[in-house]
Amino acid sequence: MSFKVGIITASDKGYAGERLDESGNVIAQMIAGIGGKVVIYKIVPDEKREISETIIDMSDNVGVDLILTTGGTGFSPRDITPEATLAVIDRLVPGIPEAMRQKSLEITPKAMLSRAVAGIRNSALIINLPGSPKAVAECLEVVLPVLPHGIQILK
Ligand code: MTE
Repeated sequence: MSFKVGIITASDKGYAGERLDESGNVIAQMIAGIGGKVVIYKIVPDEKREISETIIDMSDNVGVDLILTTGGTGFSPRDITPEATLAVIDRLVPGIPEAMRQKSLEITPKAMLSRAVAGIRNSALIINLPGSPKAVAECLEVVLPVLPHGIQILK
């Protein structure tokens, strides 16, 4: 099964060109392994409005099936990705971040510092991932096996 994917990297430093976006590349590689085609990829600053508007554009205009965000889920004053996501989803999917945190807690207790959420907007599934490439790989690995079925039943 093939499906369309949008990646949003929320990072002030990445947006300013001060940091290479390794996490976006990790996502693209891992998602390709289960048939995900990255059709749009954006780096945005840690601004609630920009993140929300990018999610809306990718789901409503580009028509992606899955939006994966990376970064901005922690406690830093500028971390706002979960709130930007909650503002534009229709339905919450608590099981995905629950599973990611459960698995990640076996690796590091710091996993409980991720405030990531997941939800559905129209027929797009949106999942927040943490910012570091290591954390992204560990969290995405947990959800990859269920994504094709989840995306299929959204239509
Ligand atoms: N989850 C996994 N699997 N592995 C990790 O190393 N790091 C945690 C957590 N989740 C981590 C993880 C840390 S240190 C933080 S602060 C939060 O994710 C939030 O990360 P973010 O602010 O980069 O989004």
